[in-house]
Amino acid sequence: METLTTLAALVERVRAWRAEGLTIGFVPTMGFLHAGHASLMALARPRCDRLVVSIFVNPLQFGPNEDLSRYPRDLAGDERLCASEGVDLVFAPTDFYPPGRATTVSVAGLTEGLCGAARPGHFDGVTTVVARLFGVVQPQLAVFGEKDFQQLAVIRRMTTDLGLPVEIIGGPLIRDPDGLAMSSRNTYLSPAERGRALSLSAGLRAVVAAAASGERDVAALRAAGLSALDVDRLDYFEIVDPDHLRPLTTLDRPARALVAGWIGRTRLIDNMAVPWI
Ligand code: PAF
Repeated sequence: METLTTLAALVERVRAWRAEGLTIGFVPTMGFLHAGHASLMALARPRCDRLVVSIFVNPLQFGPNEDLSRYPRDLAGDERLCASEGVDLVFAPTDFYPPGRATTVSVAGLTEGLCGAARPGHFDGVTTVVARLFGVVQPQLAVFGEKDFQQLAVIRRMTTDLGLPVEIIGGPLIRDPDGLAMSSRNTYLSPAERGRALSLSAGLRAVVAAAASGERDVAALRAAGLSALDVDRLDYFEIVDPDHLRPLTTLDRPARALVAGWIGRTRLIDNMAVPWI
């Protein structure tokens, strides 16, 4: 495995691989990797000849008062995890945008609610960096986690709309044994905060349990979930259609429950499939 930090070196390596007819798989990340990221690499590994992981804390997707400056970083640890997952190349640029960048990639509709409403401009930052990463890595397939459920839907839409020849694969959300969704941001939590953070998955499980016992009224399902939450501030708790992400009023199809809330200074997200039988 090698780590490249410049665009020129990456482009050169990718050109050589493509000349040999090798297929490229890609897992874009912001680093501080954990078992959730490892599971995405494990999904990609058997599907490609060469596996690239990018590590770049993308300033475009952080709002002015968000955690860009304190976002956790550990390149040496990330390289060890990537090596153990059979990654061929880590692309870890310090700077990724060209001087005078004047292009923003923006997906309408899907980005308006949920995290898009709570974090204005966030998804423009995500789609702009992912489109540029696809341009330079030129992967045939890329894997994104369902932990960022809305992000996955937005990237699928962007890839389809721009006609990018990349197969998008969603990887299941991975939880710690106590149920907390794995996230690089969990490192911010004190032990007491971590205990309260478990209320997010508890709220989602309450929705799933109420649905399994026959509740079809989404207001009642939401109320069941909300009653389990112990957050300092709630950005949203919604039960949505998994394709267009608009809130439902009746559970008349398989749905997704999604939550975003703050525990102290840490914003956490989680989601779960809500079965419809
Ligand atoms: O999910 C993430 O880690 C980021 O949003 C991504 C896709 C790497 C873009 O910066």
